Amino acid sequence: MCGIVGYTGHRPAEKILLDGLKRLEYRGYDSAGLSLGGKELLTIKAVGKVRNLEQETQKYGELKQTTGIAHTRWATHGIPSVRNAHPHLDNSGKFALVHNGIIENYAELKQKLTAKGYTFASDTDTEVVANLIAEFYKGDFVQAVASALHRINGTYGFAVLCTDYPDTILVARHGSPIVIGLGDGCNLVASDVAPLAAYTRKVIYLDDGDLAVLTPDNVELRTIENLPVEREVSNIDWNVDSAGKGQYEHFMLKEIFEQPESISNTIRGRLDRKLKSAMLSGLGLTPHELAKISRIVIAGCGTSMHAGMVGEYFFEDIAGIPAEVEQAAEFRYRNPIIDPDTLVLPISQSGETADTLAAVREAMNKGAVVAALCNVVGSTIARETGRGIYLHAGPEISVASTKAFTCQVTVLLMLALMLGRNRRLSRDDGDALLQEIERIPDLIRETLKQAPAIEKLANKYAYAEDFFFIGRGTLYPTALEGALKLKEISYVHAEGYHAAELKHGPIALLDDKVPVMALANAIPGQEKMIGNIQECLARHSPVIAVVTGDDNRVCEFTQDIIRVPASSRYVAPLTTVVALQLFAYYFAKARGCEIDHPRNLAKSVTVE
Ligand code: M6R
Repeated sequence: MCGIVGYTGHRPAEKILLDGLKRLEYRGYDSAGLSLGGKELLTIKAVGKVRNLEQETQKYGELKQTTGIAHTRWATHGIPSVRNAHPHLDNSGKFALVHNGIIENYAELKQKLTAKGYTFASDTDTEVVANLIAEFYKGDFVQAVASALHRINGTYGFAVLCTDYPDTILVARHGSPIVIGLGDGCNLVASDVAPLAAYTRKVIYLDDGDLAVLTPDNVELRTIENLPVEREVSNIDWNVDSAGKGQYEHFMLKEIFEQPESISNTIRGRLDRKLKSAMLSGLGLTPHELAKISRIVIAGCGTSMHAGMVGEYFFEDIAGIPAEVEQAAEFRYRNPIIDPDTLVLPISQSGETADTLAAVREAMNKGAVVAALCNVVGSTIARETGRGIYLHAGPEISVASTKAFTCQVTVLLMLALMLGRNRRLSRDDGDALLQEIERIPDLIRETLKQAPAIEKLANKYAYAEDFFFIGRGTLYPTALEGALKLKEISYVHAEGYHAAELKHGPIALLDDKVPVMALANAIPGQEKMIGNIQECLARHSPVIAVVTGDDNRVCEFTQDIIRVPASSRYVAPLTTVVALQLFAYYFAKARGCEIDHPRNLAKSVTVE
């Protein structure tokens, strides 16, 4: 949520900052700005996308400053506008600051600073911190920032410039990620590795409470208590190209089509053909510890929560372990019953979602075994849990999550296989499941061939302002995910429901203007789903049915059919969701929506 990038070196900073912001734009895109350092600060801002800031910057001609900070914003305090865009300056113009996170006591600090004569040009919490630093400044930049940080409650990732230190960037972290890139004759900072990969492979992830002083030739790490600290230098394990759009019009389409490959990467080296099981060593649990797990609690938000809901079926059905899913934000407020034999699985593509992180901390405090399913290596959740399973899906840039979901479900299936083999799953059943997992990339490849047919259907239905998605069993959470995809990128009202639940209320909304996407694959419950389809047709709702292979059982009721390859109920969510992702994509495209940057959203949600 919001993106930060900073550069100090010997090259003009402006282009590097703008390039970095473009790579971070998925984190927030309602306004952007940059400040270039020197004896005087030059600050330029624009509402909307980074390209608007770029145009604004061009008006200043060639900019030679070699130190700067920049920001792309997802509004929390104050509407998207130039005056609320970052960087924010103190009243004297000595300090410029960009910030991710929320300052909870900003109103109280603002009042105190106002009483001392400070004025404020924006509605943001961030501007308060710029003036607070100025208030403490007596010539020592680090000391002033550290003093200000001691007065702040809330979360932050900061990058700050000061005119008295023209080639220095000061950064600090508490709750919002900050990564430092170690370059050759330059150093960089960003809120994730995406803008750093073009300049260096070596990065340092700051911990909460860290403060770093960057100059072109040095990075000095301290705590905000001013004690020296050392942090590990990590390597970035993906290249810049994998974070580009390639031949595709949108990141979302690219990521949908990447799924056979990303799932292959998720599976690679993790299936044990000899034992007919899976090897997920990142869990760090012995077979004895695995056998002791008596309950599984999954926590996540949005798409990750839907993946968890599919996983719930796997753990109970395959491994015989009671499982439940919690919306992560609810987890710590429900006083969940957790004991040392409970395995808590937080699921998060970004590994930075604040609600999921809060659930992780609560579960760890309660003594649970906590193992995270994250995609972003080195993310806060991955590091705080210290154990888990990386998805290896590669960078997911589109705000609408696609390949992360299918990789999450694949990991959950492998974990259920491993836990099942550790308990009641026979060798033969383990082998059958293992073989089906190996087939997933090919099944997705088959499904992707339906893209042209799905595009036609999406164009046909692009008129609709309301949509229902219904499913049963493992296809119930798949229906929720299909509806989420459609609503977030097309802004059409879409609801996912259990097919049986429809008649308990929502059916009142159906008429000839409300299409229903019915997940009617040949899995247990299909007969009942056919009955549910008829209930919808009887209310004049047009029905699109997802069916398996050449199954024609619903063809006498509807002509609008999406075919996905035959699979068990465990793999059906994967093939089916790919069809629904394509449907949402083409539907939004037909309506002229901004697919990769849907309104009001951000890729990683780092506020609770
Ligand atoms: O990074 P996370 O997986 O923790 O993100 C959770 C949700 O914010 C995310 O899945 C969101 O729902 C997506 N935009 C859905 O496409």
